[in-house]
Amino acid sequence: MFLVYKLTFANIKVLNFISVKFESIKRKEGILMNKKPYYITTPIYYPSAKLHIGNTYTTVAADAVARFKRLTGYDVMFLTGSDEHGQKIQRIAEEKGVTPKQYVDEIVAGIKELWKLMNISYDKFIRTTDNYHEESVKKIFKKLYDKGDIYKGEYEGWYCTPCESFFTESQLVDGKCPDCGRPVEKAKEEAYFFKMSKYADRLIEYIETHPDFIQPETRKNEMLNNFLRPGLQDLCVSRTSFNWGIPVEFDTDHVVYVWIDALSNYITALGYLNDEPALMEKYWPADVHLIGKDILRFHTIYWPIMLMALELPLPKQVFGHGWLMLEGGKMSKSKGNIVDPEVLVEHFGVDAVRYYLLHEIPFGSDGIFSNEIFIKKTNSDLANDLGNLLSRTVTMISKYFGGEMPAPNVKEAVDDELIKLALETPSKVEKEIDDLKIPYALDHIWTLIRRTNKYIDETEPWILGKDESKKDRLSTVLYNLSESLRFISVLVSPFLPETSEKINEQLNIDLTSWDSLVSFDGTKAGTKVEKKGVIFPRIDVEKKLAEFEKIAEEQRKAAAAANDEEKQEMIPIKDEITIDDFDKIDLRVVTVLECEPIKKAKKLLKLKVDLGGEIRQVVSGIAQHYKPEDLIGKQVILVANLKPVKLRGELSQGMILAAYTNDDSKLVLAGIQGKLPNGSQVG
Ligand code: ME8
Ligand code: MG
Repeated sequence: MFLVYKLTFANIKVLNFISVKFESIKRKEGILMNKKPYYITTPIYYPSAKLHIGNTYTTVAADAVARFKRLTGYDVMFLTGSDEHGQKIQRIAEEKGVTPKQYVDEIVAGIKELWKLMNISYDKFIRTTDNYHEESVKKIFKKLYDKGDIYKGEYEGWYCTPCESFFTESQLVDGKCPDCGRPVEKAKEEAYFFKMSKYADRLIEYIETHPDFIQPETRKNEMLNNFLRPGLQDLCVSRTSFNWGIPVEFDTDHVVYVWIDALSNYITALGYLNDEPALMEKYWPADVHLIGKDILRFHTIYWPIMLMALELPLPKQVFGHGWLMLEGGKMSKSKGNIVDPEVLVEHFGVDAVRYYLLHEIPFGSDGIFSNEIFIKKTNSDLANDLGNLLSRTVTMISKYFGGEMPAPNVKEAVDDELIKLALETPSKVEKEIDDLKIPYALDHIWTLIRRTNKYIDETEPWILGKDESKKDRLSTVLYNLSESLRFISVLVSPFLPETSEKINEQLNIDLTSWDSLVSFDGTKAGTKVEKKGVIFPRIDVEKKLAEFEKIAEEQRKAAAAANDEEKQEMIPIKDEITIDDFDKIDLRVVTVLECEPIKKAKKLLKLKVDLGGEIRQVVSGIAQHYKPEDLIGKQVILVANLKPVKLRGELSQGMILAAYTNDDSKLVLAGIQGKLPNGSQVG
């Protein structure tokens, strides 16, 4: 192969080729000499709700990196798990009438099923209810206490149960949780505190002198400027108001604060402070904690300080990735889109879902999800680019060579660019993965895929096939296509493992090592290829979206029905007000005279209401719950002295009162029992 090349091409190209080849050999040697440990973790997930496509992201991304590192010769430890303690879990279990352990067992089984479905190749799944973890956490707490870094005091402040986080008054934003915006609860109790401030300067210095520690870069500044430099307060690290947690061994009224419990998982999973220190020696410090940006503060402030106090080295990197958002908001507010990963996998296959996740969250910023973008992307990148390439190649080998892989014979200048690109691609991909720029790594692979498709257009094998005298040239073209697909298959295997296997199966590829990508001659002439169906069928976008619309509607109805049967989570009562405060609100009985939808505002209705002395126009977000005609003639309650606003260009003079469920799935207008003259006061 190499000889043929040398004879056929201009010297400059040969040099080019040799240098690429040399690079590859260097790479190969590097790998062989460096079978070193690589420890990657995901956060441990709360078993609080069914996972949606967004929160599967961290684990899919970590899986791709872990697989890539294994492929390139590392000794990988990939850890994931579940974060099972805390008030939130205890409350959910109470509402369901089961013990917390019964509840988490069921949910965690579901999470494990999902990871199986998503092809997650974790080496270990840690549960914070695992005995070895609980024992280690007790020892960690004791060690910090003995050292004087944890002391007993009294806690008075605010607690956000969904986030399991404490806040001081000044940290609240408009009296709400600064992280999630939900109401917080007052908390006062005897508690243990961690002397965070003691380590603050050391941590600032560490972050400043280790530019890779917090990535991406922008997140580092956020942590330094918003949290560390203004000064750290001591952290409350125990609770007494509930008991679903790891007890403080020397003061058993207390349970360890869930974040101390949870963060410890990264070392307890390696056997820290128990009888088997071997894994700890081998894998700690971690190469990367991959996490979402929402939990960066815990991982880049509390966790490193815990480690400093334990006199352990800090992880080499904490990478805070962006979030997958729905157009116009967070995942949980989803209505029309299907965000259930199981449903998506059922309809499109696991690798379509993996590809979307891995490609659509840009380095360091948020990605957008909608069923429509998802389907279009699957069609263009997977069905068209990759699927077609495979199917055209296998079809032509079957048609022109009876399904037997031809040997390369007559080379031409046009082959050069393809071969060169194929040989250069592995190191480009590797560089991006080293920086955790997963979408860019995929872009390099897709550049090769598209270049290979272009090669088909350039070489026109269907024309060569018509002329017996061009058979040798045709052999080379099809050989090069197959070899390029072999490169592609190895390269995509960490990201799309199932697809890689399907390519290997159809082309009968058995040389799949990373090392084999140092030369463009790994395909064996004479092997049998076999077409085994389309790897990514083209999806009819309109049809699929209509089908999904129906499923979404059913899911919405089911959720609403479930709400009828099940008690919903109690939203904490707002701060106390006086009768004078209340008296400021002027509530009146009004009759709806007219009602119509507002164009392009799915949720809004425009109402004309009779207030007795005057007619008011009110815009109300009830369109998904009431039809205009159902409202006409109804008496409802109006907040009559609310400052008028414009919504979607329409004046709204007041607000109609309604009761609604926490997730907005059901809404009922508030009214009066019986009839009263319009304008009557409510109070
Ligand atoms: O935070 N897009 O667990 P968790 C991308 N138990 N990522 C998302 C996302 C979205 N829309 N929604 C959630 C916890 N995530 C703690 C961790 S670690 C010691 C304890 C990500 O179940 C989120 O950023 O709330 C996080 O990385 C992961 O899902 C698990 O979140
Ligand atoms: Mg969360």
